[in-house]
Amino acid sequence: MEAKKRKVLAEPFKIKMVEPLKITTEEYRINALKKAGYNPFLLRADDVFIDLLTDSGTGAMSDRQWGGIMTGDESYAGAKSWEHLETVVKDLTGMPFILPTHQGRAAERILYGILGGKDKIFISNTHFDTTRANIEFTGATAIDVMPDEANDPEIYLPFKGNIDLAKVKTLVDDYGKENIAAIIITVTNNSAGGQPVSMENVKALRGICDENELLLVIDGCRIAENSYFIKHREKGFENKSYIEIAQEMLRLGDAFIMSSKKDGLVNIGGLLTLKDEALSVKCKNLLIISEGFTTYGGLAGRDMEALSIGLVEVFDKDYLHYRIRSTEYLGENLKRMGIPVVWPIGGHAVYIDAKKLYPNIPIEQYPGQALVCDLYVNGGIRCVEVGSVMFGKYDPSGNLIPAANELVRLAIPRRVYTQSHIDYVIEVFEDILKLRNQERGYKITYEPAFLRHFTATFEKLN
Ligand code: F0G
Repeated sequence: MEAKKRKVLAEPFKIKMVEPLKITTEEYRINALKKAGYNPFLLRADDVFIDLLTDSGTGAMSDRQWGGIMTGDESYAGAKSWEHLETVVKDLTGMPFILPTHQGRAAERILYGILGGKDKIFISNTHFDTTRANIEFTGATAIDVMPDEANDPEIYLPFKGNIDLAKVKTLVDDYGKENIAAIIITVTNNSAGGQPVSMENVKALRGICDENELLLVIDGCRIAENSYFIKHREKGFENKSYIEIAQEMLRLGDAFIMSSKKDGLVNIGGLLTLKDEALSVKCKNLLIISEGFTTYGGLAGRDMEALSIGLVEVFDKDYLHYRIRSTEYLGENLKRMGIPVVWPIGGHAVYIDAKKLYPNIPIEQYPGQALVCDLYVNGGIRCVEVGSVMFGKYDPSGNLIPAANELVRLAIPRRVYTQSHIDYVIEVFEDILKLRNQERGYKITYEPAFLRHFTATFEKLN
């Protein structure tokens, strides 16, 4: 059976266990949102119908993974489940030193805590927020270098997540190679729309690292999704399997960091893998102090068992086709209706340009927050603003310095929702289009000093 030739994208799995969803009325949701200070992070998950807040740790495990939960070995040291995980990860990465962590940012804290420090520079296509935070916490500086054309939300580029190689070279020359702590390539590039990175780009980056004796870190929590794009968009990879493509890319790195909550297909877990023994010893010492012994690193044996199975399942060709096509299906349908989406559609999420959708709402009144609230009220859909609520700052007179874009992210959990759930989301957007000229903006009534989007509260303006 060839899924590609059909109009309907039938999920390549059937449902063995169900989790009921609460159906609420619009009146109920208006009330719930008001109680949450118009910030969907503060809603009760039970009051959400379709939760597109994140694709991290929100996926569904397979029956084989749940079987692994039962057979997980909970020995403190040298557990069988650790051996299973280590074998799978060594095969994937080709790296000899494998450290388990409880999630991605723990691996970041360990590695960047060692490499960072005052006056050190990290260069990346785009540092994810926790990556940047862990780097800046050490006193180091994190610099993003994307090609200029990648900033245009509408332009089609097959590998819009690539790093700008010329800018990397200039930075290395300007700062001096001795001050560059590492180059980090994030695949897919989450903060830049979940866009893929080409093999050619990583190979060239490896060349720059070799010339300057720099460490290349691959932040690859969505490495399987990235491999899908390479197979279908990059010349020379048509006949390779997804796992072969991932193996080839990871062999270009000196270190690999993974939040397993994405392409590990598990609800918790992380990895740090390394080629260099001396660096691995330093990392292991920090791992033991803060996460746990080197054969569990903050995870239960059952978590490692489920992860060792998830890391194999994620490269299944039918799974990956369903995964990437179902995200595209949502994005393509929204675009067809006239919703301004970031183009092309990335691997794990659809991003909407809220400034374009709500031209009547000034940026100071947060059009992205308005869209996030409207999606909840109209359809019980939860998603996140990625604009001036998340990244805005103030000048000395208290005026907003806006973010570069006012986006809203609809992140798709793995294997959780069916096509009819996605069709439902598309239908809710039909209501949003009808209301677009009546919408009102928001004012912040409370905000903390850091990462304000998580806990800020708002008031709807008249
Ligand atoms: N790196 C990337 C590229 C990520 O997307 C994330 C998490 C992390 C590192 C940190 O991993 O959450 O396991 O500590 N991204 C989630 C998201 C939170 O919603 O995009 P973690």
